[in-house]
Amino acid sequence: MIVCICQRVSDRDIVRVVRDGASSFEDLQIETGVASRCGCCRSCAQQIYDKACAEHGARAHAGPESRATSPAYA
Ligand code: FES
Repeated sequence: MIVCICQRVSDRDIVRVVRDGASSFEDLQIETGVASRCGCCRSCAQQIYDKACAEHGARAHAGPESRATSPAYA
């Protein structure tokens, strides 16, 4: 399924980038360009990113803001 029409990014592309070790949504944007133009896809892309992180690697979801509030980093 295409998530981002502007940049032609699919849900599979997002999962692949998470599996490859994206450490934040911003990394995903750098790698794919998702949500970097009109922004209409941002919410959907974020949901797919969050789900992919939960399924394929919690490490990938731990961005700087996550570390600041996570008990694991307290
Ligand atoms: S649909 Fe993704 S930036 Fe426009």
